[in-house]
Amino acid sequence: MRQHQVDDASARPPSAARYLGRSRLGIGVAAATLALAACGGGGGGGGGEEAAEGYPDGDITVVVPFSAGGPTDTVTRLVAEPMAEELGGNIVVQNVEGAGGTVAAGEVAAANPDGYTVLMHHIGMSTAPSLYPDLAYDPLADFKTVGLVTEVPMTIVARKDLEPQTMEELVVYLQQNADTVTLANAGIGAASHLCGLLLQEAIGQTLTEVPYEGTGPALTDLVAGQVDVMCDQTTNTTGQIQGGEVKAYAVTTPERVASLPDLPTTAEAGLPELQVGVWHGLYVPAETPDEIVQRLSDALKVALADQAVIDQLADLGSAPVAEEEATPEAHTERLSEQIELWRPIIEQAGVSAD
Ligand code: MLT
Repeated sequence: MRQHQVDDASARPPSAARYLGRSRLGIGVAAATLALAACGGGGGGGGGEEAAEGYPDGDITVVVPFSAGGPTDTVTRLVAEPMAEELGGNIVVQNVEGAGGTVAAGEVAAANPDGYTVLMHHIGMSTAPSLYPDLAYDPLADFKTVGLVTEVPMTIVARKDLEPQTMEELVVYLQQNADTVTLANAGIGAASHLCGLLLQEAIGQTLTEVPYEGTGPALTDLVAGQVDVMCDQTTNTTGQIQGGEVKAYAVTTPERVASLPDLPTTAEAGLPELQVGVWHGLYVPAETPDEIVQRLSDALKVALADQAVIDQLADLGSAPVAEEEATPEAHTERLSEQIELWRPIIEQAGVSAD
């Protein structure tokens, strides 16, 4: 069997020319892409049988749009290993932070459509068009979807010495101290930002938001007492909640989370409107051959059925999506629905990145 592994590329700049793609290699790569197309290889939804033959024959880069150690990074690294094994190749995880995930998504949209550059993104893919008027890409037109990956609950957490003991007390505290409380997030359009918006809407107050490049570093600051409150995914917060390093108030899902059974839901705590779950999905540039997309989707399904992945996700309060959702069709449907769902919410909140 070929070697398979997941490299940690978070500490070094993107290196593979194919990852840099059209955006950075400009005319040289565009010419190479045209030449490939003329021989029937490379881009386009068709002519992909030859392109898929022997795929992969080099590293596949999965770009994570937030910093290492955060929830998106955690989910990516969990599924990357069994995917690499199934594909018989190597997967390199690359963290490209910035602007709520839109920097990474823009780079992947412009990358070579050869199956060697893949994006892992979450709900933020559907909110970016409403939040970023000058978005450099169209989530539906500039990508092919590979499949949904996971559903992850969110938690309302705070530095461990914050006074309130319950979610009800927290609401009162935030209302009375709105001018001094700081609310961490991972940038406009990040899941933590969206959840923070819903929290502010629910308490009827505006808090001071502190953006980070990911909720990995935000959580570090929360544990150190540098910021007060955060809404973040269980894949990031479970360890710190169980270890008593942060104070946890509620989960934002309709049901309680098995790995955090003592935490009430926001609805139980009197805030039924504060509900949000985070879905993740894999994307490739729009011209990637369908056969390669299918190979990736098949490998994703195998990874999500892996008992070790299921168990590790369960420990983090999450679960893989059902097999039929790990498909391009189900993923496109979810993305389209969610773009429409979030547009009025964001318009009403009056939030914009400009
Ligand atoms: C988010 O807030 O969108 C994510 O938690 C960011 C991350 O993965 O760090």
